[in-house]
Amino acid sequence: MKPVFMLLVSTAWTLTGAQYYYQGLMDYLENRLLAIEDRIHFWHEQFHRHHAELQDFKKLTAVAVDGLRNDHGVLLKDVEGAATRVERVDREMDRVESWSAPRACASKADKVLEQGAWGLEEVRGGEEEEEWEELQSKVSDCVEIISAIRSVKILKRVGGPKGMWTRDPRSSRVYVFNGTSGDSVYQFNSVLDFSRSAGLTGGRQIRLPAEWSSPGAAVYDGFLYLVQQEVDMDTQVVKYDLLSGLVTDMAMFPMESHASVYGLNPEAAVDLVADDEGLWLLYAAGDSEPNINLAKMDPATLDIEQIWDTRCPRENAEAAFVVCGTVYVVYNTRLASRSRVQCVFDVNDAVLSEEAPLFYFPRRYGAHTSLKYNPEEGQLYGWDDGYQIIYRLTMKRKLLI
Ligand SMILES: *[C@@H]1O[C@H](CO)[C@@H](O)[C@H](O)[C@H]1NC(C)=O
Repeated sequence: MKPVFMLLVSTAWTLTGAQYYYQGLMDYLENRLLAIEDRIHFWHEQFHRHHAELQDFKKLTAVAVDGLRNDHGVLLKDVEGAATRVERVDREMDRVESWSAPRACASKADKVLEQGAWGLEEVRGGEEEEEWEELQSKVSDCVEIISAIRSVKILKRVGGPKGMWTRDPRSSRVYVFNGTSGDSVYQFNSVLDFSRSAGLTGGRQIRLPAEWSSPGAAVYDGFLYLVQQEVDMDTQVVKYDLLSGLVTDMAMFPMESHASVYGLNPEAAVDLVADDEGLWLLYAAGDSEPNINLAKMDPATLDIEQIWDTRCPRENAEAAFVVCGTVYVVYNTRLASRSRVQCVFDVNDAVLSEEAPLFYFPRRYGAHTSLKYNPEEGQLYGWDDGYQIIYRLTMKRKLLI
């Protein structure tokens, strides 16, 4: 009985020992497997997360790039829009200003200011003002001719040796045309503004839809009149509204040649003069025509009203201006000396040849490339070798009237 018991016990012991051993192994393996599974699961998740993150990142960058691209476009458009808006506001401001400023007062105040700078002999206060009024009414009644140059003022020196500047008698604004041609003009609010400005860039640059050629442009009552003359094209007179920036009228002008109207300033085939009485065109009728021709246009409709041969030669002419229906042609020599008015033509034949003035300009720098008359002030705006000069004129009564 004893050995059997022993065996039983030993077997049981062995059995339980083995059982424990295997159970332990199984547990261990199971734990390892679980741990590996966990790890795999963890990696899997990690991978998925990374993948998703990568995808998101890709999407984000794509969106960002698209956004940037759009933003750039929008920004560009915005900038352009802003520029046009600023320009529009600028124009609007101009318009409002010209509405709200009582014209007569503004130009009077301006005149007094400018007069103040004319030097001692000119400063005579109220008396001077009355004289201005008188002069103005006489000019518009057209019983006066120029007898002499009363005084000279050298305002400043800007731009190139050739150019043109003029003052709108109505708005008192100053317009500067630098060079002999171009598509933009500089605007200043007054002569004083211009004289104080640092160069041309101190003014407002106005881009024009048409090219001007100096001195063939005129400004009157907020309108700029230009002559457009391209090779193999008909000559055209363009009327441009300086406030709205629009071309308001255009008309052809029948001209056979592009010969220069002034022998000493060959760049311009046509010169324009605008005043209360009309728009005057000075031009050469043909290459072989020795004289300066004159045409009168209605400034409102650009209709040609009349044409004259002034009998003033083009040769050695450097400029001309129209005062009260009388053309004064200024001559010089090729080697610039003193400019002088040497030929006068009156459209009404009211100036007798013996009373026709012959007067000299004071000797300055080179020669005039333009002389623009301002009927409201009785003064000439000259451009001489880059200097901007104002000449005040003395008038006398026509004998005939
Ligand atoms: C004015 O014109 C001259 C050439 O005649 C040129 O050299 C100069 O740069 C121009 N100035 C401006 C501000 O346009």
